[in-house]
Amino acid sequence: MTAASGRSRPIVAIDGPVGAGKSTVARRLAQALGFAYINTGAMYRAVAIAARNAGITPDDPGLEAKLARLLASIVISFAGDRVLLDGRDVTGELGAPAIGDLASRLSTLAVVRAAMRELQRKAGAAGGVVMEGRDIGTAIFPDAEFKFFLDADVAVRARRRYEELAAKGAAIGYDEVLAQLRERDRRDRGRELAPLKQAPDAVLVDSSHLTIDQVVKLMQDRIAR
Ligand code: DC
Repeated sequence: MTAASGRSRPIVAIDGPVGAGKSTVARRLAQALGFAYINTGAMYRAVAIAARNAGITPDDPGLEAKLARLLASIVISFAGDRVLLDGRDVTGELGAPAIGDLASRLSTLAVVRAAMRELQRKAGAAGGVVMEGRDIGTAIFPDAEFKFFLDADVAVRARRRYEELAAKGAAIGYDEVLAQLRERDRRDRGRELAPLKQAPDAVLVDSSHLTIDQVVKLMQDRIAR
């Protein structure tokens, strides 16, 4: 039992900007620890898919009220690594750049953040989880036992993202990827509600010159201490 929280197993929070390697690292770390892995960005992306399917766009008049109704009517769940929206596996659609962009826009709204906060707190309450996102160590579980802020140089993040997209055959240049990434950083860090920032008690890990294995090892060592 961890003293302050009353949880029998700890929560590991990993926050950071897009392209720092959070998902790969968090998944691997969860596996190594025997913990569940929760990707909160995927939840925001599932909301974006639901909004798109419902024909909702960020410029709609009465956007928050429309989203409130939408959020009350959908069910986002996980089946292992798969993300289900109303029971349908939408994992394959989550990675589309347009969905990431819409997720980032909708995530600035209070109604969306409140719904996600409730879902994420329920999912992590028992502990034994590695949860990754933007505000896990600051807003969702400020009392998480372990907090990491995973960052990397913007050019390195853009290069990784570009190579990932190129491998999938996407027709996009490096400069465009870099510009999109800067815009997403600006929005995620600059928003009023739960902006992306390092919690004062989070360990900063700069992955610019580290391999995935090195980052996972560094975190494991920290947790084992
Ligand atoms: O991690 P990601 O790129 O899949 O996240 C998509 C967007 O969702 C991100 O740009 C901002 C939002 N998000 C958030 O606001 N809070 C989180 N904990 C996770 C994601």
